[in-house]
Amino acid sequence: MSEKKKFYITTPIYYPSDKLHIGHAYCTVATDAMARYKRLQGYDVMFLTGTDEHGQKIEDKAKAAGVSPKEYVDNIVEGPQGVKDLWKLMNISNDRFIRTTDDYHVAAIQKIFKAMYDKGDIYKGKYVGKYCKPCESFWTESQLVDGKCPDCGREVQDAEEEAYFFRLSKYADRVRDLLENTDFLEPRSRVNEMVTNFIKPGLEDLCVSRTSFQWGVPVDFDPGHVVYVWIDALFNYTTALGFMNDKYDDYDKFWPADVHFIGKEIVRFHSIIWPAMLMSMGLPLPKKVFGHGWLLLDGGKMSKSKGNVVDPYLLSQRYGVDALRYFLLREFPFGTDGNFSNEALIGRINTDLANDLGNLVSRTTAMVGKYFGGNLPDGCGADEDEKDLTNLLVQAQTQGGVGLFFNFEEDDPRKFDVELITMAAQLRNTYEEKMEQYAFQDALMEVFKLIGRANKYIDENKPWALAKDEGQQGRLAHVLYNLLECVRISAVLLTPFMPETCGKIFDQIGAGQDLRTWESAGTWGALPTQAPVSKGENLFPRIDAAKELEELAALEAAAKAQAAAKAEPEYISIDDFAKVKFVTAKVLACEAVKKSKKLLRFTLDCGEGQTRQILSGIHEYYEPEDLVGKTVVACVNLAPRKMMGLESNGMLISAVKEGAEGHEELHLLMLDDKVPAGCTLG
Ligand code: ME8
Repeated sequence: MSEKKKFYITTPIYYPSDKLHIGHAYCTVATDAMARYKRLQGYDVMFLTGTDEHGQKIEDKAKAAGVSPKEYVDNIVEGPQGVKDLWKLMNISNDRFIRTTDDYHVAAIQKIFKAMYDKGDIYKGKYVGKYCKPCESFWTESQLVDGKCPDCGREVQDAEEEAYFFRLSKYADRVRDLLENTDFLEPRSRVNEMVTNFIKPGLEDLCVSRTSFQWGVPVDFDPGHVVYVWIDALFNYTTALGFMNDKYDDYDKFWPADVHFIGKEIVRFHSIIWPAMLMSMGLPLPKKVFGHGWLLLDGGKMSKSKGNVVDPYLLSQRYGVDALRYFLLREFPFGTDGNFSNEALIGRINTDLANDLGNLVSRTTAMVGKYFGGNLPDGCGADEDEKDLTNLLVQAQTQGGVGLFFNFEEDDPRKFDVELITMAAQLRNTYEEKMEQYAFQDALMEVFKLIGRANKYIDENKPWALAKDEGQQGRLAHVLYNLLECVRISAVLLTPFMPETCGKIFDQIGAGQDLRTWESAGTWGALPTQAPVSKGENLFPRIDAAKELEELAALEAAAKAQAAAKAEPEYISIDDFAKVKFVTAKVLACEAVKKSKKLLRFTLDCGEGQTRQILSGIHEYYEPEDLVGKTVVACVNLAPRKMMGLESNGMLISAVKEGAEGHEELHLLMLDDKVPAGCTLG
């Protein structure tokens, strides 16, 4: 017996710093669909996911929560509505789950670090640069964008310490060659991004250890240092197979990975740092890294700290997990960003799932029940011509096209059969082509073309009219048989996306296990005519969109309010606070800026020996003449900026009460007139 083909696919390992949201589920659902598809095709699949549990962010969060880092991550990974629970809810079929705090992984990372050190690819030096805490990323000055983290746009901190470095520079040419001259990284647009932003400016050696916190894998030959969290994280893909450990024995079987699915912001780590480290270790490279887009909410990335996350528990409870899985992969092309909205979700459920798929299944099964008591008569299945036709088409697909001509009379209904069967017989090939490109949206659209065609076939053939005609019973049965076959083939190909629903469909049309296979999806006429058909529950009840949107809005508002009440303050250091210079200022003159509805131009005495000009957009709240002589507060070390052609050198401080429609109330901060100009505040 020949050995089964292997397929190894991974998701990123998630930070258990907060509960996961639907953005995280997006990648995991896509990976799951791919893994299920490969299993359907008969591959021996390894699907890995897990959690990335070390790093300063987790250490800080645990401290704030008053628990140890391990207790903190245990709760988010294993606890109620934790990572594992979410994957169970989403029906994720991972074969393995790695936690980077697992002993075998920690020990393996220490060995890997030492191996690169022994080779001379990791060396000790001094780190001077910038560090973005939320991203756990080091940056050089030149990599910052406007002085901020190029990934998340947040403030970075100065960092200087003794540290170990990885000789990334040594691998720059090989990595560039890999990116530019192979299909290693997809979509291709991400290649340009990597080469332009990171490789062309020159790859500097990467700082790969830290001493300023402890929550990480200790460098065992130099106490006090912990391994940079990204080394620890990236090698999970190999340690989870048993690389440098005895916990598993699948490394030789499954490495190199067929594909790593990851989000676009971590493409740099996976397409530059990861291959370079594998090169250093002398290991084969993964065959592909695919950087998918983000699921956005209101145009921005979902994040717990922004409070703009969508709760997968809430949605799957209301619409079912399969509807949610389907939506995620049907609504947006996998490689690009997509905006999540409740309207789009409900719209998709109502049109594709309730109207098209749900209706086709319920109408077909109901008619087989009503007209034939749940069993079609013998001999109504595919005839030899139709089976031949499928063969012909499969050959046409695989061998580059064969012209087909049928000369049916205008009123011969068999022309509908040919059209339908042609489409169904070609479906598996087109679907496969799309799936192999990770074009989930396109693959689903292909299946739904057949579903749409089958619904049209019902209207063309009018089974209710055939039923009234004694002489048409054979035709009626054949029409229904063709519909059952379309349902069956569609359900096989939809199984990776909606496993539970497709199981129910197979049960309703009486398709046994051998008719749910990849093989059978390419065979027209496989369903026995007498398969027991029964109309089951409504698969996707139609949603009253207006009412539902209102209810969701209310639930989300309540959840937001609850999150805001619980939100932890984002602390800044005293040094950061001291950077801002507030002084008291006397308003010497104030006038409206011409052609501006909002701006007032202030001439101020800030105790500096000369006047200072500040523009402030508060005209809708104050008349300029009312402000002359007042004592106000100004921030005087903001970088100057021009508005309406005038320079503003600072900012006046106001008290603002935010309302639903923007600023509802604004009060310019005014002090007792006895306070002199030029006092510093702090
Ligand atoms: O990056 N839409 O972990 P993470 C789509 N631990 N994808 C999203 C998303 C959204 N709104 N929000 C998050 C890490 N993701 C590292 C990975 S792998 C060796 C280490 C995706 O929990 C994000 O793009 O911050 C990333 O691929 C994944 O969730 C994990 O993010």
